[in-house]
Amino acid sequence: NSGSTLLRDYANGFRIGAATNTMHYNNQNYVNAMKSFNYMVAENACKLSGIQQQKGVYNFNDCDNHYKKAKELGMDFRGHCLIWHAYQPSWFQNADANTLKNAIVDHITKVLQHYDGKIDAWDVVNEAIDDSSNGNGWKMRNSFLYQKVPNFIDLAFQTARKVAPNVKLFYNDYNTEGVYAKTESVYQFIQDMIKRNIPIDGVGIQYHVAVNQQPSYQKINDLIGRYCKLGLEVHITELDVKCDNVCNSGNVEQQQATVFTNALKACLNNSCCTGYLVWGIGDNDSWLGGDKKGLLFNSQYKPKSQYTAVLNVLKEY
Ligand code: G3I
Repeated sequence: NSGSTLLRDYANGFRIGAATNTMHYNNQNYVNAMKSFNYMVAENACKLSGIQQQKGVYNFNDCDNHYKKAKELGMDFRGHCLIWHAYQPSWFQNADANTLKNAIVDHITKVLQHYDGKIDAWDVVNEAIDDSSNGNGWKMRNSFLYQKVPNFIDLAFQTARKVAPNVKLFYNDYNTEGVYAKTESVYQFIQDMIKRNIPIDGVGIQYHVAVNQQPSYQKINDLIGRYCKLGLEVHITELDVKCDNVCNSGNVEQQQATVFTNALKACLNNSCCTGYLVWGIGDNDSWLGGDKKGLLFNSQYKPKSQYTAVLNVLKEY
């Protein structure tokens, strides 16, 4: 494979992935770019909003279609996400406490059963710690989930473990890569979960950063190392690097490339860091908007300097 330019050909068992969206699968350039990776996550389809838009009516079609595409392309598939406060169907948001508690258990049960033996890692809870957490303990996000079912995180992880004992259970959050104080709060929160024997196997560091607000290699390397010491796995789950402020600077791609490679090198340097995923394929498809140029491929699905930089790190590894 010495002539290959596919990331997956140099991954050596390491999971290098991207978030994808079936709405683009009819674009052959998109699909060709997808083939660079060996790991996939659905950007939206496997969320509660994708599977259970109506209470009790489980529609796995779109999530299944992502999964099938992953298999067709020889990729592993990551589960994102079971319980989240944002963008939820109104029935879920407006449910009374008891209904919500039962819905959390029912959703986790049905989804994990449906993908039993197919998806070996899931984000069980997404973004439950408040952004203002200052590193001195943590503050729970004051969401409808927390207000109505204060122990929803414990409940979610305990349910998931019971239903799917072999699935790796992740907590996933943003602003946790070392730039903001919330990083430390989430670390303490995870540490506390372990102390309380809540079944958790991994932490997803989302890593949505700006080119001028990102951790140094040393910082992210230390942080991942500390999670490893807790006995956890780490995935970098949603990496993108927006060009904020310097979008028109001549060397912006080089600056962005450094952010992508620092994260990758830190992950590869820690054996418990077992996955690295970017949040989308081409710049235009990104939730950031195409002008933020946050991804590895441009809007025509041509690899950018960031892609080559990531490829070169994998080649050396
Ligand atoms: O597909 C429909 C389209 O038919 C409809 O006309 C249109 C009108 O709003 O909406 C389209 O769906 C949108 C979907 O993205 C597809 O692009 C939803 O409204 C929109 O809410 C949804 O946003 C997603 C968001 O999560 C909420 O689920 C983003 O794509 C997705 O990138 C974003 O991902 C999150 C992670 O899950 C968690 N971490 C942060 C990350 C970025 O916000």
